[in-house]
Amino acid sequence: MSGFVWSTRIGLAFAAAGSAVGLGNFLRFPGQAYVNGGGAFLIPYIVCFFLVAIPLCWLEWSLGRLGGEKKRHSCAGIFDVLIENRLVKVLSGALSVLIPAGIYSYYALVQSWCLAYFFVFSGVISVGEISEVGNAKNLFESITKSTENGFNLSFPLACLVLTVALNALVILRGFINSIEKFCTYAIPLMAVCAFIILFRVLTLGTPDPSVPDRNVWNALGFMWNPRGVNGESWFASYFNPQVWLAAFGQVFFSLSVGFGILMHYASYVKRKEDIALTSFAASATNGFFEVCVGGLITIPVIFLFLGENFNPNSSFSLGFISMPLVFNKMPFGNFFGALWFLMLFLAAITSSISMISPVVAFLEEYFNLNSKQAQKISLFFLTLCNLLVFCLSRDLVLLSTLDFWLGTLCVFLFAGCILLVGFNVGLDVVFNSLKEGALLIIPGFAKVLLALIAPLFFLGILIGWVVNNLPSYLSSVSGFEGYLGISLVAFSFICVCYIVYSKSK
Ligand code: ALA
Repeated sequence: MSGFVWSTRIGLAFAAAGSAVGLGNFLRFPGQAYVNGGGAFLIPYIVCFFLVAIPLCWLEWSLGRLGGEKKRHSCAGIFDVLIENRLVKVLSGALSVLIPAGIYSYYALVQSWCLAYFFVFSGVISVGEISEVGNAKNLFESITKSTENGFNLSFPLACLVLTVALNALVILRGFINSIEKFCTYAIPLMAVCAFIILFRVLTLGTPDPSVPDRNVWNALGFMWNPRGVNGESWFASYFNPQVWLAAFGQVFFSLSVGFGILMHYASYVKRKEDIALTSFAASATNGFFEVCVGGLITIPVIFLFLGENFNPNSSFSLGFISMPLVFNKMPFGNFFGALWFLMLFLAAITSSISMISPVVAFLEEYFNLNSKQAQKISLFFLTLCNLLVFCLSRDLVLLSTLDFWLGTLCVFLFAGCILLVGFNVGLDVVFNSLKEGALLIIPGFAKVLLALIAPLFFLGILIGWVVNNLPSYLSSVSGFEGYLGISLVAFSFICVCYIVYSKSK
């Protein structure tokens, strides 16, 4: 089996932070925070982050290293050697490969839109002025091809091919070791771009003196003053399950908890190497980019230039319609626009390569392939998935359906499965392994959080979600792409369950 190991602790931390920091930080978080109470949203966010996500992150890392010691690197393989219960093994094993593969199939497409916009702002292709909402929408539709299904040789296809090729290049050059090397350069570069944009936004003052209310302070207040949701008082929002679900979903998506990635990465960490501090540092870096960078840029700058006239509910509309309009109005807008989309692309690629990696490990272990064969087959198969989502792009229904079922629901369920596996292995075993080589003192109550608080959170939110959201979601499924998306997820899940079942001990 594989002989890969992370070469340095800092390289591992960059790779883990790279997986976490992504489009979720700069596009998804600002919209979620804005619609769920602004500053008031930070309380559920922080509670979920510290009380559930961090202990769960430690659990994933610890299980991963325990599995790696038994020479398994795919999550399904790790579950196979760590627990006895076959049902849990099969269900969690199947989710652990379906989630990263499925999310990659549309995430790489969104990444290719960032590349396309980068080319637009850097002047590589000319699209005319983006001065009105109408122009910005037209550009969005032509880049995302969201008006119709179909395949044609076009600029968006070229961007997708380039994106997929870059992802493939990183994987094929040395797998884990080249992911590490790539993130070690890409994350600092992404951070530099982000800080330049943040500095620019915070020093904009009052960009249009004829509208004095649109100044930086008001823009920050607009984003971060605590507000109620649906006309309630801000305090009442803490009793609204929707707000907690949003916080939970955001923290999980953003930290890549429940994606099967962290556990897989941890399986390449040697015994006696620190994982507690590394995972905490990666999570803290992610939180910083989310709240202190993403949260201070996207919505405040849109307010500064466009006022309150934007759609905060859609990350795509924020990132790809409102932001281009903002850059059009901003001094040196082409430069800052190109920098913004380059930053998004870098953030996204360090996440997308981390989604390919667990799929490679799964094929290697479950089909007895060598690493190179597994890499090539995974990339071929994932590229077909990208092309499918690209061709069926009408109204982005397929993409949104996959995002809901895989990127929200399955992630949540898989996180619950990890908890079950942790209980099966024994929390004492998990924490003893976590403490090996740890430079961070793990608080004793972390075990209590996993044993008591996390399951309560899971059950509460699952019940709240099933009662509040599932019926309205199911009744809103429409179009052949929506049904196809659900069928594809269900069919792939059954197939992977069968593979895991037939090869498990
Ligand atoms: N954690 C990744 C992101 O936030 C998936 O985009």
